[in-house]
Amino acid sequence: MKLFEPFQFGKLKLKNRIVMAPMCMYSVEKKDGELTTFHNVHYASRAIGGVGLIILEATAVSEEGRISERDLGLWNHDQMIKLKGLVSTIHEFGSRAGIQLSHAGRKAEDAKNLVAPSAIAYSGDYQVPSELTLKGIEKVIADFKSSAQRAADAEIDVLQIHAAHGYLLNQFLSPITNQRNDHYGAQSLENRFRLLKEIILEIKKVFKGSIWVRYSATDYDESSTTIEEFNQMNQWLEALSVEVIDVSTGGLLPKRPTMIYPGYQTQYAKYFKDNSGLKVATVGKLGDPNLANHILETEQADLISLGRPLLRNPNWPMMAAKELGYHQFEPYNASYGRGFNE
Ligand SMILES: Cc1cc2nc3c(=O)[nH]c(=O)nc-3n(C[C@H](O)[C@H](O)[C@H](O)COP(=O)(O)O)c2cc1C
Repeated sequence: MKLFEPFQFGKLKLKNRIVMAPMCMYSVEKKDGELTTFHNVHYASRAIGGVGLIILEATAVSEEGRISERDLGLWNHDQMIKLKGLVSTIHEFGSRAGIQLSHAGRKAEDAKNLVAPSAIAYSGDYQVPSELTLKGIEKVIADFKSSAQRAADAEIDVLQIHAAHGYLLNQFLSPITNQRNDHYGAQSLENRFRLLKEIILEIKKVFKGSIWVRYSATDYDESSTTIEEFNQMNQWLEALSVEVIDVSTGGLLPKRPTMIYPGYQTQYAKYFKDNSGLKVATVGKLGDPNLANHILETEQADLISLGRPLLRNPNWPMMAAKELGYHQFEPYNASYGRGFNE
């Protein structure tokens, strides 16, 4: 049964194909970016529940890059030490640990001075950001690199770069939000991709685990990045040794897709899987185990990323195994086994 088959590619080995999608908890009450008891229990529960890979929520590379003041951060040593503790726990419970590194750009909700590729606000409810200077861009790259170094120190297995949902790197990729005239600017796809490329090149110097990118395959606007352009970027990502793309959609503009149904984003994952050598994770209302397994069996994607289904049930893998009649599932211990077998 594909959902429970191990996944091995490049530097990564997972015991099954189930990935916990990054989900902000907005629960750092002290606003210091450090993991709390809540986070440790929250993530460890999904490891006990049998998830193959747990990707920690969007974690800011700098204070000003947070979506909200209650986000996790990885811009200092204390944050790294706490992260290392959690990674060790996740490993102890048999899962792999990933982290999503992020900069919110013009969608930073609590920052005093927003930055973005161009001075265009997300909506009327948001401040107009200032256009990043070249020095500012250098700082963003350096922040991603030093956070990646800390992720390596914390023994993280997967580093996912957040280039989706309208945050800073998504803003650079799209000609709607990137109207710069320099070599990071709108004149060509190569220019718009440059910041992401330079970040990956720097990260690779310090992080030797598996590098993933999450992007929004469509911004739900015809004048934004096209699917063919994403396809081109995939070739570049592959050449940069990125191993997996996690394919989401939307968030750049306050527009929503007209139809949201189980597997509504999987068409994009399949398209990228068919047209590149990258492995793909698909996400979006995939909580029905039959659907999740069917997507893998029919080779539409390599990994199933779950957000809300794992909020509803940390033991989703066990529930899925039961529903699919997969008797080889290994519950965490004999007591959990009673939940599975009796
Ligand atoms: C509470 C919550 C927080 C989220 N935070 C993030 C995040 O930090 N980074 C991200 O890329 N996506 C985030 N998402 C999107 C999820 O990763 C996922 O793509 C989305 O929920 C669709 O998958 P689902 O139908 O399995 O929930 C969040 C979603 C939820 C529900």
